[in-house]
Amino acid sequence: MTHRLIDGRAFAERVRRQVAETVADLKSAYDFVPGLAVVLVGNDPASQVYVRNKEKQTVETGMHSERHDLPADAGQDRLLALVQQLNRDPDIHGILVQLPLPSQMNADAVIDAIDPAKDVDGFHAVNTGRLWTGTGGLVPCTPLGCMMMIRDVLGADLSGKRATIVGRSNIVGKPMAALLLAANATVTVAHSRTKDLAAICREADILVAAIGRPQMIKGNWIKPGAVVLDVGINRVEIDGGPDGKAGRLVGDVDFDAARGVAGAITPVPGGVGPMTIACLLANTVIAACRIRGVPLPSAFA
Ligand code: GUN
Repeated sequence: MTHRLIDGRAFAERVRRQVAETVADLKSAYDFVPGLAVVLVGNDPASQVYVRNKEKQTVETGMHSERHDLPADAGQDRLLALVQQLNRDPDIHGILVQLPLPSQMNADAVIDAIDPAKDVDGFHAVNTGRLWTGTGGLVPCTPLGCMMMIRDVLGADLSGKRATIVGRSNIVGKPMAALLLAANATVTVAHSRTKDLAAICREADILVAAIGRPQMIKGNWIKPGAVVLDVGINRVEIDGGPDGKAGRLVGDVDFDAARGVAGAITPVPGGVGPMTIACLLANTVIAACRIRGVPLPSAFA
């Protein structure tokens, strides 16, 4: 049996190239460029890094990029007013409010306020409903990236495949279940209250780990030949570094044990992670085409 490593960095690079080519085509054919606005409230260091990367990659693909910073103590009304302004802005086709928000804000109310047509995170209830009913809409970026990688290994039709997702978040687990079901897989959603998790994982031809627990999924929980997508990004302390401690990123899967069992597996880092921003860029192109009423380029149809 071959044990393939799925290279998320190379995959994301291909998606970004398709986005850049499409942006150039839209500009020459219709004289407009897709625009993405990213909103950051406060100064959480991890969020600042994410937002900078999003801006940088948006600009690199030739799109219009806007960043809006609000202070950590800004009121909810101020954020909602900004969202309304971006909803009306004809140069903006995608709006992303970076999460988590400070505690005085209600993330659900903010997501509800975003025009569903510009909700490139795919978090709005309208897009969630569209995903489950198979009626279009915008799909959350991380599950979309996972599906692209699964299709690359197994093809578009997952008939007869058993897929298990560990984790039931609105951002990954639930939308992942909808996408796998739409592709004809037989889907199980397991979570922290599931009994006999190891046995359930062992039945999976496709295993998506999105629980946020470092290396929880062991090598002997994996069916030989399974396709394993590890969405976890966990920082664990290791010995070394100036103060005797250093951080290392690990996934939700015990990678060293799993890679010799799985048929294909994503590493952490360098697997699912890089695909998330690439899919955000793809979603911005998709949103822009729909808003402008121009046909979706074949790469994103
Ligand atoms: N924070 C961490 N990941 C995400 C994401 O995908 N979207 C938003 N809006 N915030 C995040």
